[in-house]
Amino acid sequence: MELPAKPARRFLARLLILGVIAFVVPFAYVVTIRGGGGCSGESCFFSSSDSLTVSAGGSAAYVRHTDGGVARDLWTSREWRRAVEFYSSSFQSLAAEGFISPASKALCVGSASGHEVLALKEIGVSNTVGISRTRSLPLVVSGNLYSQPFKNASFDFIFSVNHIEHSPRPVDLVAEISRTLKPEGFIAIHTASAGDAYSLRSILDLFPSCRLVRSHEIDGSISSMKLREIILQKQPGSEIDSGDSVHECSVVPDHKLRILASAEPLIQEEPLKPWITLKKNIKNVKYLPSMVDISFKRRYVYIDIGARSYGSSIGSWFKKQYPKQNRTFEIYAIEADRAFHEEYAKKKGVNLLPFAAWVRNETLTFEVNHELDQKAGKKSLGRGMGRIKPSAGDSANGLVSNDLHSIHGFDFAEWLKSTVSEKDFVVVKMDIEGTEFDLVPRLFETGAICLIDELFLECHYNRWQRCCPGERSPKYKNTYGQCLRLFSSLRESGVLVHQWW
Ligand SMILES: *[C@@H]1O[C@H](CO)[C@@H](O)[C@H](O)[C@H]1NC(C)=O
Ligand SMILES: *[C@@H]1O[C@H](CO)[C@@H](O)[C@H](O)[C@H]1NC(C)=O
Ligand SMILES: *[C@@H]1O[C@H](CO)[C@@H](O)[C@H](O)[C@H]1NC(C)=O
Repeated sequence: MELPAKPARRFLARLLILGVIAFVVPFAYVVTIRGGGGCSGESCFFSSSDSLTVSAGGSAAYVRHTDGGVARDLWTSREWRRAVEFYSSSFQSLAAEGFISPASKALCVGSASGHEVLALKEIGVSNTVGISRTRSLPLVVSGNLYSQPFKNASFDFIFSVNHIEHSPRPVDLVAEISRTLKPEGFIAIHTASAGDAYSLRSILDLFPSCRLVRSHEIDGSISSMKLREIILQKQPGSEIDSGDSVHECSVVPDHKLRILASAEPLIQEEPLKPWITLKKNIKNVKYLPSMVDISFKRRYVYIDIGARSYGSSIGSWFKKQYPKQNRTFEIYAIEADRAFHEEYAKKKGVNLLPFAAWVRNETLTFEVNHELDQKAGKKSLGRGMGRIKPSAGDSANGLVSNDLHSIHGFDFAEWLKSTVSEKDFVVVKMDIEGTEFDLVPRLFETGAICLIDELFLECHYNRWQRCCPGERSPKYKNTYGQCLRLFSSLRESGVLVHQWW
C-alpha cells in the first residue's frame, strides 16, 4: 500500500503546483496607484484617471499604493480576480455590441468593491469611476447615491449590480442615474431578479426616460448563480421624467395577461354552500408574489377597505399569510365604524382612515348589523356595518336613529391616485357590504384601477343561507351572476382579482 502511494502523492502535488502557477501567471497584474484620488465637486475623477496604471504579465501579483510610500497588497485574492475577470468578459461582450468603447465615460453605481471599475479600465475604458456610499479609493469615490457629485449628462455608460432593487429609495437613485447619463447613453443592470415580465415592467416603470434594448439571462460570477443583464437606452429629449401619471390602461399589457393566465379560475357556478366553497377557495388563490418578482418597486402598500378589527384580517391574514418577499408594507386600514377605531391608535405601522371608501366626498349613513352582533354575543361590536347610503333622505332631516350612523365618505379612487403610483406595489382587500358595486365602476372610470396590483374582493350577493335551506340572504339584492360579471370584468381589464370570502 505504502510504496505506490508516496510517488503518486508527490506527482499529484507537483501537478497541483503547476496548475496553480498556470492559473496565476496569466492573471498577474501590477497595479500602481499614484495619488490618493479625490473628489471635489464635478471634477471628481476623470482628472486623476491617469494615475491608475494596470499592467499585465509580471511574475507576482501585487498592488502598490505609492502615496505615502506604503506598499500594500490589494485585490490579489483569487476571488477578487475572479470577479474582475467575470466583469471583464461581460464588458467585452457589451463592447463588441457597441454599448461601450474606449472613448466612453463610464460610471459604476453602488460599486463598493471596485471590481466593475477595474474591469472596465482593464478592457480599455480608462474614463471609468465608481460611486459608493463607502469609500474605496481610488477606483471608487464615496458619495451620496441620491445626490451624486456629477454633472447632468456626464456618462455614456452606467453600470449597476444588484443595487437598485435593494435601495430604500429606488426612484431617487434611478433619477440620478437618468440625470447623469447622456441622451442615447446606455444603462446596464445585472440583477438576480427580473426573470419575469412583471418584474421587467417594474424596471421600465422606474426608468420612464429610457427604452429597453434587451434583457437576457447570463451566468453569474458565482458558480450556477443565474443573473439577468438588462440594457436600457436613454431616449433623447427625455430629460423630463414623465412622473407618476397613470398610464393609459385600456389595453391589457402582456405582463398582466401572463399573470392572469396562471391565476386560479373564477368559480363559474353559484355555490350551493357558499360558506364552505368560498372559504375553501382561499387555498386555490395564487398570490401575485408567488408568481412574480416584486423587487423593483418604490413602495409596498396594503390597503384594507372595510378593515374592521385589526385581528380580523390585517393581523390574522395579511401579516401572517400574504407572501411579501421580505418587503415591509405600509398598511392603510379604511374603516368607518367607530367601534374599531380605538384599537388602531395603538397599532404601529397601520394608518387608519376613519372614513368610508366611497365614490365622492359626502356624508353617508350606514346601518349596524344587529343580527351579527347577537351571534357574536356582544352588545355593540358588530362584525361590520351594513351597506352605506348617501344621506339624502332620513339623516338629512336629522332622523338618524340608533341603527343608522352618520359617517364621512371619501372619494377612494381619487385618494388612491394621490397616494400611490404605478411604481408602487399595491395590494387591496375590499369587504364593503355591497358598496363594491359602486366603488369598482368608479375605479374604472378614474383609471385608478390600473394602480392596483392585486385585489381581494368579497362580493356580496343574495347567497344561499346556512341557517335556512332554500332561502337566500335578504340582506343583498345583487345576484351571484352579477358578482361573477364584476370579477370577470376586472380580470378582462388585467386586474388580478381573487374571490374572497
Ligand atoms: C440637471 O437635470 C435635472 C433633472 O434631470 C434638472 O432639474 C436640472 O435643471 C439640470 N441642471 C442643469 C444645470 O441643467
Ligand atoms: C427572506 O429573508 C430570509 C432570511 O433573511 C431568507 O432566508 C429568504 O430567502 C428571503 N426570502 C426572499 C423571498 O427573499
Ligand atoms: C375630498 O376630501 C379630501 C380629504 O379631505 C380632499 O383632499 C379632496 O380634495 C376632496 N375632494 C373633493 C373632490 O372635494
